[in-house]
Amino acid sequence: MSQPDHLKPISAPSLGGTFPLPGTSHNLNRLGYGAMQLAGPHVFGPPSDRPAALAVLHEAIAAGVNHIDTSDFYGPHVTNQIIREALHPYPADLTIVTKVGARRGDDGSWIMDASRQGLIDSVHDNLRNLALDALDVVNLRVGGVSAPTPGSIAEPFSVLAELQQQGLIRHLGISNVTPEQLAEAQAIAPVVCVQNLYNLAHRTDDAFVDALAQQGIAFVPFFPLGGFTPIQSSELSAIAASLDATPMQVALAWLLHRSPNILLIPGTSSVAHLRENLSAANLQLSPETLNSLDTIANEQKR
Ligand SMILES: NC(=O)c1ccc[n+]([C@@H]2O[C@H](COP(=O)([O-])OP(=O)(O)OC[C@H]3O[C@@H](n4cnc5c(N)ncnc54)[C@H](OP(=O)(O)O)[C@@H]3O)[C@@H](O)[C@H]2O)c1
Repeated sequence: MSQPDHLKPISAPSLGGTFPLPGTSHNLNRLGYGAMQLAGPHVFGPPSDRPAALAVLHEAIAAGVNHIDTSDFYGPHVTNQIIREALHPYPADLTIVTKVGARRGDDGSWIMDASRQGLIDSVHDNLRNLALDALDVVNLRVGGVSAPTPGSIAEPFSVLAELQQQGLIRHLGISNVTPEQLAEAQAIAPVVCVQNLYNLAHRTDDAFVDALAQQGIAFVPFFPLGGFTPIQSSELSAIAASLDATPMQVALAWLLHRSPNILLIPGTSSVAHLRENLSAANLQLSPETLNSLDTIANEQKR
């Protein structure tokens, strides 16, 4: 019996097709990798198994991943240092996207810091720990984790636009933002991507995803699998079983089907999970299956 495509070994052209970051030369495979899980527990300190973390990155590149999402506040510094150790000098087609706007306390706490000096320091931390002269894409990360916080982002975004003018940043994105904050940022400098919380079970940004698609801007959902506690749903498990797939593969395939401007950065510290996640690009979902998956989102809204 032949294997279904999503169970076969992956190859680069199968990573969900590509999406170009607008106005740039960065053409990203739609299935990428989020590096946050490479740091230690609670994204603080070193991982217990550094060789395993390096192996995940080597496997990602071997599988054709050309988009890695990171931040210097993962660890802090640890995740970027692992990326550098594993991959520097970087493949020519690799786009590393980082984010600034927070720092870590000595106790591992997350401290929002969009001050001018905080942003400048964060950009330099990223440059140093990734061993780069310029960062491909930097997201200004504002707001809370579960939802954006309305209010002006003009001041911190202008600081990043200045650093872009200085040649330290090539392109800008924003994270945890509202459509109004996007419009405000766009009046200052072009925005190539938006990174907000979005997945099968959390669809507050449905209209925003569509609006960004119309503008040709990438939408990069964080927590695409549900985050530290991945999505659990009996309906999802049943659908996955009927497709000979895993629930995580179906959750990722749903995002790929949802809109062509969605770029995925599922996070994992495991080579096996990485392979499973990348193979989701080969999973075709029928209109009937997509309808059934909508019920999961509707249940969450109730
Ligand atoms: N902008 C922001 O505010 C923000 C916030 C959070 C995250 N992010 C970015 O988004 C990326 C993705 O988010 P995330 O890693 O937090 O969440 P996620 O991708 O939704 O899920 C990661 C979790 O799922 C598990 N997992 C991954 N693949 C799996 C599989 N095939 N089967 C079972 N479990 C699996 C991981 O554990 P294992 O390690 O055991 O696989 C981990 O616990 C991060 O790496 C980061 O770059 C951005």
